[in-house]
Amino acid sequence: MTWQGLLKEYAELLPVTDQTPPLSLMEGNTPLLSFPTLSRELGIELYGKFEGLNPTGSFKDRGMVMAVAKAIEEGSKSIICASTGNTSAAAAAYAARAGIRAIIVIPKGKVALGKLAQAVMYGAEIVEIDGNFDEALQMVRKISEKSAVTLVNSVNPYRIDGQKTAAFEVCDQLGSAPDILAIPVGNAGNISAYWKGFKEYNEKYQSGLPKMMGFEAEGAAAIVKNKVIEQPETIATAIRIGNPASWELALNAKEESNGSIGYVTDDEIVNAFKLLPQKEGIFAEPGSAASIAGVIQQVKSGSIPKGSKVVAVLTGNGLKDPQTAIDQLSIDPVNLPNNEKAVMDYLEELITS
Ligand code: F0G
Repeated sequence: MTWQGLLKEYAELLPVTDQTPPLSLMEGNTPLLSFPTLSRELGIELYGKFEGLNPTGSFKDRGMVMAVAKAIEEGSKSIICASTGNTSAAAAAYAARAGIRAIIVIPKGKVALGKLAQAVMYGAEIVEIDGNFDEALQMVRKISEKSAVTLVNSVNPYRIDGQKTAAFEVCDQLGSAPDILAIPVGNAGNISAYWKGFKEYNEKYQSGLPKMMGFEAEGAAAIVKNKVIEQPETIATAIRIGNPASWELALNAKEESNGSIGYVTDDEIVNAFKLLPQKEGIFAEPGSAASIAGVIQQVKSGSIPKGSKVVAVLTGNGLKDPQTAIDQLSIDPVNLPNNEKAVMDYLEELITS
């Protein structure tokens, strides 16, 4: 049967009632891809859950469909969120679909181009602040307490419920939970959502439990360093967050699963960002590459044993952040005259070398 979107497919496992509107952009049901080349090189069984194929290009659609549907059910006419880009794209899309207003507050100059383009095209009210994500989140939390606008950041529990469905899918696609679930950590909602999902599915279907391995960016590694980072910095703007809202839930996921939360450097992120498209044909954004970078690091250190079955969550599509991709070019694309022979001569050298 054709996929009907998360609220229909997982109605029994979500807070869906008779009053919940049937909102959907056909989110979820994303592929779990095996990565044969990286698996061979690393000596593990590596898979990627490619969340970049959701309707707005990130995992945020899972949480947003649930949060916006519940907002409408409760009579809300507008939603608000702070965002490093993906949450705002998803909020804007689902609000447009539902015919309500989306207000997004974003850190000026630190949102990838594709994400900003999405918010513009979906018709959101966009507020840029001279501040970072953490400051924007603090602001929208206060505004939502004082006015009739629903907060749809992941502190809204419906977001976590929607996002937990990705863990259900991983178990179904693999036949059981993997040994290890590797995931980028920013505001720490998604690691908490996956862990909730794995536990609920295991209770219902005995699907097993993975070790949760979360990865922050080095310059934004609040959980690892056990302190708020006032000025977080990383090339992976999606996870440029210094005071994660779901800090405690993330620690709980780590402890209950006997897992770990570590950090990866920007160099490790960039390496994984380039490796994945070149070795496996999958283009994920820098924030997502943190999970692959983390897997490589943990295999090298011996913390991921050889032969482990590992699922890395690829949270967003590479097309979200074209500038960071283009910046990786060490040389400009070769420029040749509009002349078949000139192009052929150049290609011949490449093909025979
Ligand atoms: N990967 C991507 C591509 C993200 O956009 C985010 C978070 C994360 C990972 C981290 O997930 O916050 O649940 O730990 N993006 C948020 C946003 C903050 O505003 O789009 P998390």
